[in-house]
Amino acid sequence: MDNSSAKDIANHLAADGDRFKELKAFDDSKAGVKGLVDAGVKSLPKIFIRPPEELLEELNLGRSQTEFPVIDLSGIQSGPDQRKSVVDTLRRASEEWGFFQVANHGIPAKLLNGIVHGTCEFHELDAELKEKYYSRDLSRVVRYSSNIDLYQSNVATWRDTLTINLMTTYQVEPDELPEVCRNAVMDYIDHVTKLGETLFELLSEALGLKLDDLNAMECAKARNFVLHYYPACPEPDKTLGTRRHTDPSFLTILLQDQIGGLQVLRDNQWIDVPPVPGSLVVNIGDLLQIVSNDKYKSAEHRVLANRIGPRISIACFFSGVIAPPKIYSPIKELVSEECPALYKEFQVGEYLKNFYSNSLDNSRLQKLKI
Ligand code: OGA
Ligand code: NI
Repeated sequence: MDNSSAKDIANHLAADGDRFKELKAFDDSKAGVKGLVDAGVKSLPKIFIRPPEELLEELNLGRSQTEFPVIDLSGIQSGPDQRKSVVDTLRRASEEWGFFQVANHGIPAKLLNGIVHGTCEFHELDAELKEKYYSRDLSRVVRYSSNIDLYQSNVATWRDTLTINLMTTYQVEPDELPEVCRNAVMDYIDHVTKLGETLFELLSEALGLKLDDLNAMECAKARNFVLHYYPACPEPDKTLGTRRHTDPSFLTILLQDQIGGLQVLRDNQWIDVPPVPGSLVVNIGDLLQIVSNDKYKSAEHRVLANRIGPRISIACFFSGVIAPPKIYSPIKELVSEECPALYKEFQVGEYLKNFYSNSLDNSRLQKLKI
């Protein structure tokens, strides 16, 4: 190694050392971004400021007001013609966007309001009451933290999260949950799980498969619920609420409140996903893109920071079966001589390891390409 590169590395490590200290101090506070806001910060701490190269890259991307697909699910019970029309719309949205909203999905508005309210109440508990849930131990069923990838990403984002991890145990005991959101969370888990199974049926049909094929692959089995709280941000242009990413799931169902800020990247343009009261946002994740052999698309998305807040959102990631020996690969009915398999077989656990070790690296999907 020549001297100049040794010096570069030394400088880099020193800079990183400071950054690490700041991250650690923030993490040790166990109070999240909400804690900073409560302490009255008026300018962003360095760890949250997006690097100039990222802002420059942004200049290549436009913004567009294109209309976002909305699917009315009431049609699926009203006879074969209406059902076919829903399935056709769903197919188009999953192929072209990888994102859509669903209306009339059967989850009562009262429950949607209840879970948004419960999430807000949890994050607004006194710091001493929240602290005992704070943890980075991914195996814990219920845990709260700020920035799931705090130590892995190059810049932190303006968001705290309560996670209910049903990835290996598949259930949570009510008394493990914070009391302020206990009933709403239990009820929401049940309803969203059922909606997920219904969507997997429709998505199977839209791929020309048997109704039950995706559910038989246990796509809806492991679930991770993340209850996000995006506090009001004093300098929203310098940071993000959630960095651009694709979801490492089969499918994600997202409930967002009225604040807005979620955007999808389509043809190099950021498109707003407008809050629609009572509806839910659904997106295709990487794993469904793979098993559908690229028929469906897992689209990049992000959340802007906002001077107004808090913004609340609740996502459920459906992640299949994680435990080995379960293996997934492109569905054989979707593979033929003219349309060969585009991906190797994989285990979900391995895929997720890649996500958590470097979620900035959006090449996870590429690595599985044949
Ligand atoms: C996510 C995500 C969007 C939102 O949790 O993966 O994209 O609106 N969330 O919070
Ligand atoms: Ni996401």
